[in-house]
This record gives sequence, C-alpha cells and structure tokens, in this order.
Amino acid sequence: MTSASAPGKVILFGEHAVVSGTAALGGAIDLRARVTVQDLPGRILIDACDLCLKKFSLDLITGQVVSSDAVHFTRYVSAVLKDFDAQDLRVEIKSDLPMASGLGSSAAIVVATTAALSQHLGLGLSKKEIAERSHRIEKSVQHGLGSPMDTALASFGGYLQVSDDILPLDLPELEMIVGYTKQPHDTRSEVAKVQSMRSRYPDLVGPIFQAIGAISGRAVPLIREQRLASLGELMNVNHGLLEALGVGTRELCELVYAARGAGQALGAKLTGAGGGGCMIALPAPGGSAALITALKQARGLAFPVKIGCEGVRLESDLG
Ligand code: PMV
Repeated sequence: MTSASAPGKVILFGEHAVVSGTAALGGAIDLRARVTVQDLPGRILIDACDLCLKKFSLDLITGQVVSSDAVHFTRYVSAVLKDFDAQDLRVEIKSDLPMASGLGSSAAIVVATTAALSQHLGLGLSKKEIAERSHRIEKSVQHGLGSPMDTALASFGGYLQVSDDILPLDLPELEMIVGYTKQPHDTRSEVAKVQSMRSRYPDLVGPIFQAIGAISGRAVPLIREQRLASLGELMNVNHGLLEALGVGTRELCELVYAARGAGQALGAKLTGAGGGGCMIALPAPGGSAALITALKQARGLAFPVKIGCEGVRLESDLG
C-alpha cells in the first residue's frame, strides 16, 4: 500500500491577466488531497470523499447512488491510471479541498495519484517529472485548459511566480482566511468572458492587465518583509480590477465586503477565475476568529489556511 498527499493552492495576485502573459503569484496551502493505492487483483476501484461531498444523485436504472463530486474526482484519477497503464488497483482519495472552487483540488488529486503510483510501481519519478506529467494529464481531462501553476504548486509547494515561465520564490508562510461561496465555478467560461472583453476593449483591458501584473510584482517584497497592511491594500486594488473585468459575483463580493466590514481584514479579494468559488482575506493580527465569524454570517464556508506550504510527499510506503 502506498500513500501520497499534495496541497491545494490559492492565487494571491494576477489571475486572468496571467493568461495574456503578465505575472501571477500563487502559493500552496495546508489543505491537502491524500491518495492511497493498493493491489486489488482483477479490479480497478476508486473510492473518494472530500470536504463537501453532499450532492448525490440516484441512477434509477441501476439503483446506484452516485455523487457528482465523486464523478469529478474519478475522472482525474482514471486519467492518471490510464497514463500509467495501471490495473489491479484500489485507489482511495481523501481530500480537504472543495471541488471546482479555485483551490486546485483537481491538480492536488492528479499530483498525489501520480506520486503514489510512481512509488507503487517503482518508477521513482522526480518532483519535476511528477509536475510535468500531472500538468499534461490535468490538461487532457480539461480539454487543453489549465495553467501549469496548480500542478506545479501541488508538486513543489511554496510560492510560485508564473508568467512565461515558472519561478519558485523563497517567501515566509502567510496566514489567510478563505471564504467559499459554495458555488462551483467554471474557469473555462470565466477566462473566455475576460478574453472576449479584451478583444472588444483592448485599450481598456490592456492597461487593467498591466496594472494587475504590476501588483503581482510589488507584492513579492511586501510578503518577504511582512508588510501586511500594504499587502492587504494591494489585495483590495486587485479585487477592484477583477471586478472591472466582470468576474465578481454578488456572493463573492458580499464575502469580500463582509471581511473588510468586520474591521479585521487588512485586505480581501476573490481568488482564481471568479464567477463563484472562493475569496481570500488577510487577517489583521489576532483578527482571524472575528473574520471567520463575519464570513459565516455572510453565508460563506470559512476556514483559515497557511500559504507557502510543502508540496507533494509520500505519506507511507507499506508495500
Ligand atoms: O480558477 P482557478 O483557481 O483555476 O484559476 C484560474 C486562473 C486564471 O488566471 C483565471 C486562468 C489561468 O489559467 O491562469
């Protein structure tokens, strides 16, 4: 039996603009997906559960209860198994990460499964090989879509700056509060919406992208020097620019304003593609509990995360 785990991620700054080549900054978080593989002669079985497994549908023909979130999980795991031509296995997934929320749950699952299989099959893939292979697999499931940021963060951990290439950054851990709207988002359609706006208003959207890229660059020394008040201010500016691009929603903005209104957030912004999913808030020192309460009162699912955490790791190798 072999287990591996990999972290989810948040995008701190730069989403959407990065699609057109400016810099984005992301960090691995301390919520993880854990994947265990063990021999099961003659069968391939996938078992899954996550933080929010709550949607069930009943197949009236077979009488089988199917969770739509579990279907989402198994699509990624099947792609990894196929890529390794792996058979006669039971794969068990346990994830702290809500699906399709912008926290990188599919990348974490693909990377953890790839690492567990590499160990189980005695292939000894390096982290770099795991990251490259996982990115290719995630993209194939998502029909060609998917920046390398999620799989790279799930593999290497820490912080990454992404533009034309991926640059690891040595920065201290940060604590933030995530507010999840409980609405899954569709990265593909949000990206298409923003890119369409860009082609219709290049003179307006171009400068917005430039400003977002500049924020990503300015944020790096602020994190390094722990200048949190200024970092929070940049989060607020970045959120406003994302709003201008049309990827905010009422629910996301309610969480952002609830966080700021609680007086305990130094800054707050949506994270990821928008159109649902999550926002992040930077708590003032000692302000995390009040911030979580404010986000819950605004009907969000709220939890603290550490940013800059460890990448993929083997949890055990009992076989
Ligand atoms: O929704 P997420 O967390 O997968 O973030 C997407 C980030 C975008 O910049 C909108 C798209 C991309 O591929 O970088």
